[in-house]
Amino acid sequence: MTRKNIVILTGAGISAESGISTFRDTGGLWENHRLEDVATPEGFEADPHLVHRFYNARRAQLHEVAPNAAHFALAALERAWEGRGDFLLVTQNVDDLHERAGSRRLLHMHGELRRLRCTMCEETHPHAQDAGLELACPACGRAGTMRPDIVWFGEIPYHMDEIGAALGEADIFCAIGTSGLVYPAAGFAAEAVHNRRGCELFEINPNPTGVEVYDHVIAAPATHGMAELLRLLGVED
Ligand code: OAD
Repeated sequence: MTRKNIVILTGAGISAESGISTFRDTGGLWENHRLEDVATPEGFEADPHLVHRFYNARRAQLHEVAPNAAHFALAALERAWEGRGDFLLVTQNVDDLHERAGSRRLLHMHGELRRLRCTMCEETHPHAQDAGLELACPACGRAGTMRPDIVWFGEIPYHMDEIGAALGEADIFCAIGTSGLVYPAAGFAAEAVHNRRGCELFEINPNPTGVEVYDHVIAAPATHGMAELLRLLGVED
């Protein structure tokens, strides 16, 4: 059997059925806050306490939610793909539902709720509890320098070299639950199409995104859509 490499991109929609709200399905507000106030470096500079409180609430919510069938199906796909080709899961989500479902080759391109970053030395650290300016950086020892390890608007996403290399070698690309509005992730499908391997493109989204490069659009919520994707790829769940 010829080897086929898979790259999957997930967005907020894959966690919607776990009870985490998406960004743009709620009228441009994220949990009642304007994105500029809680998801930009300028917002953090203007009111770091508000921003910490906001992400503390998002971090605490992780205790109340669980991975859904789509997260588990992706972990099953990764296991089933062993020996068939490379597998990479890239997520824009900052929740930890993919890892809790058992995904292993996983890159969080927009950071993680359960990590903090020092604004001075740039080191990142796991952090599962509430955070605030009273914390000292475990690496450099300075106090008042810790921020959520989230890639905010205007900042450069993580792992771009590794993601670019995987897209260059992808035979199958699938975007799940993402509006296709935020770059650079929004450009991944086009990048995969142009990689000269004849990459086959799938999209799973219950709503039309208007992105036109996909060969197969599975117009369903992620849980049902993943079952269909596994069927199309010949993988038993
Ligand atoms: P969006 O909120 O922009 O889009 C969510 C997508 O999920 C929409 O296209 C919905 O149609 C779809 N959707 C809703 N319910 C679904 C379901 N049950 N199954 C599958 N899809 C469903 O979220 P993202 O595309 O992830 O950045 O947004 C990208 C980035 O913008 C986020 O990572 C975030 C935000 O600003 C940062 O936090 C840095």
